[in-house]
Amino acid sequence: MNNTVLKLNDVCKNYQRGSETVHALQNANLSVERGEFVAIVGHSGSGKTTLLNIVGGLDHPTSGSVLLSGQDISRADEKTLAKIRKQAIGFVFQQFFLIPTLTVKENVALPGLFLHQPVDDQKIVDLLKRVGLDHRLNHLPGQLSGGEMQRVAVARSLINDAPLILADEPTGNLDSRNAEGIMSIFDELHRDGRTIVVVTHNAELVERSSRVVHIEDGRIK
Ligand SMILES: Nc1ncnc2c1ncn2[C@@H]1O[C@H](COP(=O)(O)OP(=O)(O)OP(=O)(O)O)[C@@H](O)[C@H]1O
Ligand SMILES: [Mg+2]
Repeated sequence: MNNTVLKLNDVCKNYQRGSETVHALQNANLSVERGEFVAIVGHSGSGKTTLLNIVGGLDHPTSGSVLLSGQDISRADEKTLAKIRKQAIGFVFQQFFLIPTLTVKENVALPGLFLHQPVDDQKIVDLLKRVGLDHRLNHLPGQLSGGEMQRVAVARSLINDAPLILADEPTGNLDSRNAEGIMSIFDELHRDGRTIVVVTHNAELVERSSRVVHIEDGRIK
């Protein structure tokens, strides 16, 4: 069995900002094996979110290839990417992207609904309990603090039992107690054999990872 979950070959991503070309990723090469817990670290603007978006099929590379469990997604069409995102990836966004008109519970259920499978109510409640938010089930995102929204985003990433979890600064808005709660969830996922790629500035989260990848000016070091 091929155990490489993720492989980036010479990935470049350019953004056009007016007349300027931003080289957000430059010849990035990365290989992640099943069950690895990889921490991506680098300064602000170094290309971490760009990397995660490309790995998660949310953005196309300018050049190079991205293989997810052997399948090249770098030029896949939107329909194929949407299917992969629903089934294979749990994503925690840096900006959360909660739907403002849906309750906490509904936001967590959403990726499951996209799969056209009934979402087990108890599972949603259990996930929200796991992130310490079972008392906020029927609140709207606008009624939550930044840290609470972040924890909803983490719960949502787990609803589909995806084998690959991609998380962008999942403890960035949390106090140490809540950050500890989220980190212990990542520990459990790791023990369960899930593959985790997490962008973080949090030294304790880095400490718990099995490998650290440094990124600097769009280059993986
Ligand atoms: N849509 C875009 N258009 C133009 N430039 C962009 C775009 N998205 C990102 N960039 C630029 O690409 C570079 C990498 O951005 P990215 O968001 O990947 O950084 P990051 O490492 O996630 O930073 P942070 O730690 O602040 O979240 C930055 O110079 C950024 O300004
Ligand atoms: Mg970022």
